[in-house]
Amino acid sequence: MDHFTFADGVLHAEDVPLAEIAEVVGTPVYVYSRATLERHAQVFAEALSGLDNPLIAYALKSNPNLAVIRVLQRQGFGADVVSGGEMQRALAAGISAQDIVFSGVGKTHREMADGIAAGLGQFNIESEEEGFELARVGASMGATAQAALRVNPDVDAGTHEKISTGKAENKFGVPIHRASEIFARLSGEPGLNLRGLAVHIGSQLSSLDPLETAFTKLGSVIAELRAAGHTITHADLGGGLGVPYREGEVMPSPADYGAMVARVTKGWQVRLAFEPGRVISGNAGVLLTRVVRVKRGGNGDPFVIVDAAMNDLARPAMYGAWHDFVAVEPSCERMTANIVGPICETGDTFAMGRDIDALEAGDLAVFRTAGAYGATMASSYNSRGFVPEVMVDGDKWAIVAERIEPAAILAAEKVPDWLE
Ligand code: LLP
Repeated sequence: MDHFTFADGVLHAEDVPLAEIAEVVGTPVYVYSRATLERHAQVFAEALSGLDNPLIAYALKSNPNLAVIRVLQRQGFGADVVSGGEMQRALAAGISAQDIVFSGVGKTHREMADGIAAGLGQFNIESEEEGFELARVGASMGATAQAALRVNPDVDAGTHEKISTGKAENKFGVPIHRASEIFARLSGEPGLNLRGLAVHIGSQLSSLDPLETAFTKLGSVIAELRAAGHTITHADLGGGLGVPYREGEVMPSPADYGAMVARVTKGWQVRLAFEPGRVISGNAGVLLTRVVRVKRGGNGDPFVIVDAAMNDLARPAMYGAWHDFVAVEPSCERMTANIVGPICETGDTFAMGRDIDALEAGDLAVFRTAGAYGATMASSYNSRGFVPEVMVDGDKWAIVAERIEPAAILAAEKVPDWLE
């Protein structure tokens, strides 16, 4: 459920007609709805309300816009970060360091030191090597890094292979059959307080079954570690809940997820953490774009060429992902078309042979469900600028990230004097 709906035949973000934003800010532009973000946050929190004080650490990678993080901070969310840059953003949005979890396989020495200095709540260690390094960094600072060991449960999440993270061949976590042994070795290290386990098997999951399998396996490791005398106080169950990208598509509900978690983790006696990203931000954003022209197809369907491209929204080119595409002011007419951007490669295609609202040059349209992994994955390919972001709140709206013009990117480049 989201707050992008039609009123008087015109698509609105909450109470704001999208044409108004296009007029003032130009296109392409990402538009987020505060009410939708808040609703998703509340539904997710409500689904976990039976648990004892869970930490909901919003996965910043899905949408790290400062204003978006701020909305979620005000809902009591913490943050899951995967780089020094994301850590800075979470802190800048007012999330307390204690509520920040730092994940990722390639944390640098600098990122570890900065995280320890900031007092981060938890580092999710992804390898034995990383664990020893984090311990060394902590000890050298006279500090203790709070940590959990991320386990790779070797479970197929049943999602796109590029966003699957819990199979044995993926780079994430330590192999589950070695988890106890690695935990034991790291737990003796000064500079480290290894206090729990973490798991995250992938993103855009359309079934709860693989999650249940992974959590059950995690529960066995917890039992094994406790039997060996270790103290386990924390378990981080990651993110991954899928969202509908097509009208009518049904995904597991947060309530069903919460009920499954409560059942599987009963008796664990730990503080649970969660790292939801897409389920919070995905349907809270659209990419608003204008049709540049409609070109007759060489071989059938016409090309609707829009001013957004794969550099602005990479998901279709990268994962073959589907985003619903609707006109901002639809007539009743339909057309079958290929939706493409202006970039000079065939991969810059949003959809082929799609049944869409009939569009002409100058018309506005949106790609829906673009709030997660949209603006944050943008690039400046083909020397295009970085797309701006707007947040709507009822009948007011604001630019929450300025468009970065190609000239600004050019200004950061230099020709060395030996090329003058
Ligand atoms: N925690 C960890 C450790 C993660 O790696 C991820 C996502 C999340 C949480 C959040 O997962 P979510 O709840 O959003 O599914 N760019 C891809 C998605 C990459 C996901 C990476 N990790 C896409 O556009 O589909």
